[in-house]
Amino acid sequence: MFNTAFLDLPPLASAGGTVQLPGSKSISNRVLLLAALSQGHTDIYDLLASDDTHVMLEALKTLGCSVEYVSTNHVRIGGMAGKLITKEAKLFLGNAGTAIRPLCAALTVLATTQGASFELSGVARMHERPIGDLVNALRAIGGVVTDLGKPGFPPLQLGDGAPHTLDLSKPIQVRGDVSSQFLTALLMALPLVAEQDTVIEVVGELISKPYIDITVQLLARFGVNVQRDGWQRFTIQAGARYQSPGSIYVEADASSASYFIALGAIAPSDQGITVQGVGLDSIQGDIRFVEAAQAMGAQVSGTANGLHIQRGAWPLIAIDLDCNHIPDAAMTLAVMALYARGTTTLRNIASWRVKETDRLHAMSAELRKLGATVDEGDDYISITPPASTDAWTTAPIATYDDHRMAMCLSLAAFNPKQLSTRINEPHCVAKTFPDYFEAMFALSTPVAGRVPVICIDGPTASGKGTLSQLVAQALGYAWLDSGALYRLVGVAADLAHLSTSAEALAQPAHAQAVGTLAAAMQVRFDAHAVYLDGADVSAAIRTEAAGMTASRVSALQPVRDALTALQQGFAKAPGLVADGRDMGTVIFPDAPLKVFLTASAEQRAQRRYKQLISKGNSANIDILLADLKERDARDMNRAHAPLKPAKDALLLDNTGVTIEQSVLQVLAWWQGKQAS
Ligand code: DC
Repeated sequence: MFNTAFLDLPPLASAGGTVQLPGSKSISNRVLLLAALSQGHTDIYDLLASDDTHVMLEALKTLGCSVEYVSTNHVRIGGMAGKLITKEAKLFLGNAGTAIRPLCAALTVLATTQGASFELSGVARMHERPIGDLVNALRAIGGVVTDLGKPGFPPLQLGDGAPHTLDLSKPIQVRGDVSSQFLTALLMALPLVAEQDTVIEVVGELISKPYIDITVQLLARFGVNVQRDGWQRFTIQAGARYQSPGSIYVEADASSASYFIALGAIAPSDQGITVQGVGLDSIQGDIRFVEAAQAMGAQVSGTANGLHIQRGAWPLIAIDLDCNHIPDAAMTLAVMALYARGTTTLRNIASWRVKETDRLHAMSAELRKLGATVDEGDDYISITPPASTDAWTTAPIATYDDHRMAMCLSLAAFNPKQLSTRINEPHCVAKTFPDYFEAMFALSTPVAGRVPVICIDGPTASGKGTLSQLVAQALGYAWLDSGALYRLVGVAADLAHLSTSAEALAQPAHAQAVGTLAAAMQVRFDAHAVYLDGADVSAAIRTEAAGMTASRVSALQPVRDALTALQQGFAKAPGLVADGRDMGTVIFPDAPLKVFLTASAEQRAQRRYKQLISKGNSANIDILLADLKERDARDMNRAHAPLKPAKDALLLDNTGVTIEQSVLQVLAWWQGKQAS
């Protein structure tokens, strides 16, 4: 996940490949609550791991349910069989509508009838999201709900600690035109107290009907059948009881699929995009996004649980569509509209205003930043794309703590003007799809030469390793430690019994042999270790001796040639910080920012000394200083790629400067480059 303040997407040229999507948020949180209310244990597979499911799981634990993580895709919930285990608790539910609404209803009926009291709250935005229609319906049957803030909005207190009876003799009325989650919440809660046939009547036009279908289907999996008369009347049969189905699989999120369907519709590709985990048999309403994407020109074919998408009509075809049935995925259409000829209008989406943010306002504001002409109505949005390639503009995209804003707007990276796209607060995708950007980058190919590379070159022990790692972390970029590659060559030569003595390496044939060996190395870096031909060599490459050997083999042209393409291959979206001796001069000569980091030899020797001592190695400062000067001399005077600042490098002498200051300096330079 990108935990940075912003993420710069390089302009993207094409996309293709297969993506396995995370589980559906709507299904995950419904299944979790139903499992918790049921009799018996439920083994849940492929549950979405995200902020919204996290708050639900935490709430269930607080309520006394057992939550056992059996393996990465398997969690076992112990149900309470409709009987409260804990009678008093405070539950914090973040900004998860799929958690707070159903919990509000279920805990109101349980607390009221069993004499308990619970407090529900969330983040500030959650306290602006309406829940009054649900609260009114619950109060009408005798449910005890107290407003703890503004009436009609969380925070709420459910129950008062004393038992009361509910009156279910008359139909329970609930409005259906603000959020379908109010009806979902009642459908999930009332089976807990349905001693008699219990009827729910929807007042007003029910929006987002497909979500009600999901609820009704999942209730059936947990043993409760609901009779549905049109979309107006729902009857829960007397004596309903939740019974665990034993195990249940969560299908992938159809709303998340929309970004990849759009990617396939927008991006040129030979192989197209394959989406796994959700397909034409999906019970999620957002699967009907497929029809909308097809109407805009995408070629989509599907199986029961997979989709394949290829670009069809180009530019895309503008549409005028009632999107009430796909409120979340419709946001993706708004961004696809940027690539259509003509004006696209999405109608009947007033519910956008009460989601994670006011999405009508947010979408309008951000699409305008890209050069689109946008008409924002009370319940519709019309988008006319920039009139020409030149009319595309860019500005940092605000995401309003709304995961879907971030994911949708990432598709602007295909803009024909090849502008890079800055997404602010990219971590908001954690609500439903923590690895969204990684998944998107894995499928996408940037415009040639447009992956940003920051080069940090400098002599040994100048601190460039630490600096470049921290800069990479701050930007969410990959990190290339090119010195490690030369160290690996030395280790590989030792393992292959090829001498690395100065005399041996002076023989051209021997140098060539070491180069051939370097070209054949299978190298892999992960967050914790470096692997050479499958073996962990992290410790072996970090010794002083390995550094000296590296310095000798790195002077050989065959070795340098062997490593050039390997190093250039590290430049992948969203960007790279490369540290070494010749990153700016030889490997990435067009890099937009080159830093040459130095410090006095004495200070560098001190740093190396501390490093070695802290790792439990013995060290002598005088020997270290002499070695360091010898390596400096060799690195600077060698015939091939000698250590020297690139002509356009910015010098950073960090003698007496803290690492934090150096990081800030490099980030400030980078910011300046982006702005220019
Ligand atoms: O940065 P380091 O100490 O891990 O590098 C080990 C040796 O590799 C160093 O003495 C010089 C060489 N090197 C190089 O020649 N070119 C690079 N880009 C990186 C390192």
